[in-house]
Amino acid sequence: MKKVGLVGWRGMVGSVLLERMQQENDFTHIDVTFFTTSQTGQLGPAIGGDAKPLLSAYDVDALKGMDVVVTCQGGDYTNEVYGKLRDSGWRGYWIDAASALRMSDESIIVLDPVNHDVIEQGLEQGVKTFVGGNCTVSLMLLALGGLFEQDLVEWVSPMTYQAASGAGARNMKELLKQMGDIHGVVSSRLADPASAILEIDKLVANKMKDGSLDYDQFGVPLAGSLIPWIDVPMPSGQSKEEWKAEVEANKILGSSKQPIPVDGLCVRVGMMRCHAQALTIKLREDVSVSKIEQILASHNEWVDVIANERGASSEELSPVNVTGTLRIPVGRIRKLSMGPRYISAFTVGDQLLWGAAEPLRRMLKIICN
Ligand code: HSE
Repeated sequence: MKKVGLVGWRGMVGSVLLERMQQENDFTHIDVTFFTTSQTGQLGPAIGGDAKPLLSAYDVDALKGMDVVVTCQGGDYTNEVYGKLRDSGWRGYWIDAASALRMSDESIIVLDPVNHDVIEQGLEQGVKTFVGGNCTVSLMLLALGGLFEQDLVEWVSPMTYQAASGAGARNMKELLKQMGDIHGVVSSRLADPASAILEIDKLVANKMKDGSLDYDQFGVPLAGSLIPWIDVPMPSGQSKEEWKAEVEANKILGSSKQPIPVDGLCVRVGMMRCHAQALTIKLREDVSVSKIEQILASHNEWVDVIANERGASSEELSPVNVTGTLRIPVGRIRKLSMGPRYISAFTVGDQLLWGAAEPLRRMLKIICN
């Protein structure tokens, strides 16, 4: 049984990972040790055995005793500990949710339903560092996996609608607080069927603009609004989130030497934990919509092709429908007026599951089975 050290298991992504591992009985196949950055010596959770004292996540000697380290602690932790651990001669497997090591030559970005062959080849070649991909990238590749597998994509432009969870737990709370505070200024008027909507709208707009909303995390109000910029600027004029799409997608697909262009705008919207994306795709050849649907549907067991109809699209292609599940619905597939090789698609996925925790859980399983 492999000795597995878990770091950052109390945070949002780490908690989702733990929950999934429990659901899938993964702890029966590993010898787990819980690490902490702040509560060394306190009793850990009684998962995978009796509760034991937590070890320090900065204790390189303790980490060296592990066959596998899985961390959801974040990039600062990775930057501080990973190098020291490798320099100490440790040759164990490092599985990381943070982006710090994603583009390193020694790492593979894991999304096994899409790049199982890249992972297997890496393992055979002795790769020991595996990193979860950016959430929008992973969710897009799961949705469009069939088209990429058949090399039918000349380029794709994802325009994203990204949930608050991608920015962190505090951001989710801030969004909800903003919603409540905005509602608060008009709740009595809303209760009166005769109230005038323009009066309500004016009160809402004033509340959003007068600086009284809590927006420390997002920097601007998000509830009732949106933010067309995610992460830091890049010299190209892209936001870093937009830059990641092409480099990470091609690294996952193993096509970095001849990259498929993947570029669009990333937008934060007031959803909780599901990212959605409107995709414009140029195909390498004219393929019928029914054939495209068949190719997409047969790629993996989570993707679900939704008919391009109003009712099905409204119900199925929605964060409300997808949240908390591993489903990857993809729909709105139709030919665009630009020509027979241009198609649209729309997809939704849970940012904390397939977008973060699940690829890590599955990688751990690949290593430990
Ligand atoms: N960077 C993503 C976001 C989440 O801000 O939504 C992590 O992949």
